[in-house]
Amino acid sequence: MINAVERKIEQYIIELDDKLVTTLYRRLPHGKRLRTKLILKIAGNNLKVIKTASTIEMIHLASLLHDDVIDDAFTRRGKASLNASDGDKTAIMMGDILYSKAFFELISISPEVAKVVSNSVVQLSLGELADVELSKRFHTNRDAYLKMLYQKTASLMEASAEAGAILVGKNRKAYRDYGRNLGLAFQMIDDILDITADSKTLGKPALHDFFEGKVTLPYMYLYEKLDSEQQLKLISLHKKRLTPKDEKWIKEKMAEHKIIEKSYNQAKDLVIEAISSMEALGEKDLSNIAKAMIEREF
Ligand code: FPP
Ligand code: MG
Repeated sequence: MINAVERKIEQYIIELDDKLVTTLYRRLPHGKRLRTKLILKIAGNNLKVIKTASTIEMIHLASLLHDDVIDDAFTRRGKASLNASDGDKTAIMMGDILYSKAFFELISISPEVAKVVSNSVVQLSLGELADVELSKRFHTNRDAYLKMLYQKTASLMEASAEAGAILVGKNRKAYRDYGRNLGLAFQMIDDILDITADSKTLGKPALHDFFEGKVTLPYMYLYEKLDSEQQLKLISLHKKRLTPKDEKWIKEKMAEHKIIEKSYNQAKDLVIEAISSMEALGEKDLSNIAKAMIEREF
């Protein structure tokens, strides 16, 4: 069924009747289509469901195109990002085109779904702005970080699950909560993998978040465990190109203070909540999606 979503997106792109846009779209890597998987598992398979998943994937893709410009990121999913290969202007406009076409289609699917999804894009944008602000200097504001994480990543997953529930008349709140927990855990694990996985597996340089200015939870937890001299050292490495020696120091300190385990357990608690809520509803496939999340390697 994922193929039906791929075909629908392709059809939406072709309808734009612009050769360059079609060429650029076809060059972009597809990603895991996690939001589509959620929607299809919740709502099954009919045209409205396929259209909803397609528009959400287009919005997600648009947000990543803009995010790579904002983050000055040169790789995405193991390939050159669009801003790297074709420049910021092309990446921004391609994002705007995908985003506006998605909204044009979304409003004729269901006003209720359009409301939920558009609200999540407001959150997404507020989250990205908060991320930019929080990345300007070293901080240990966990509440602000978690709020930003919810807005930037969890809100669109929450909206995907809720949209699926709306389309088939299921309990909106239960699925919405599931999507939010999954989204938060997803981003927390993403933050951990930035530290633990190698750059080949990640498709981007490792330990890149800290270089981009992002003080993710593991760095905050680490800071709390360091003595004052080491804290100053950690702050001095923020936003710097790390030497292999600095990288080694960060990883060793994380290991010494069991930081990865602590961060991972926090994500795991959210996943466990997601699993038990879906098992209570007899949604085996959805609980399996949550289980797979804590086992993911990239
Ligand atoms: C990736 O975060 C970024 C997001 C999930 C959201 C980005 C949102 C916007 C740019 C605003 C919305 C814009 C539109 C057009 C809908 P990250 O940088 O932490 O993750 P990464 O490692 O995958 O880059
Ligand atoms: Mg980014």
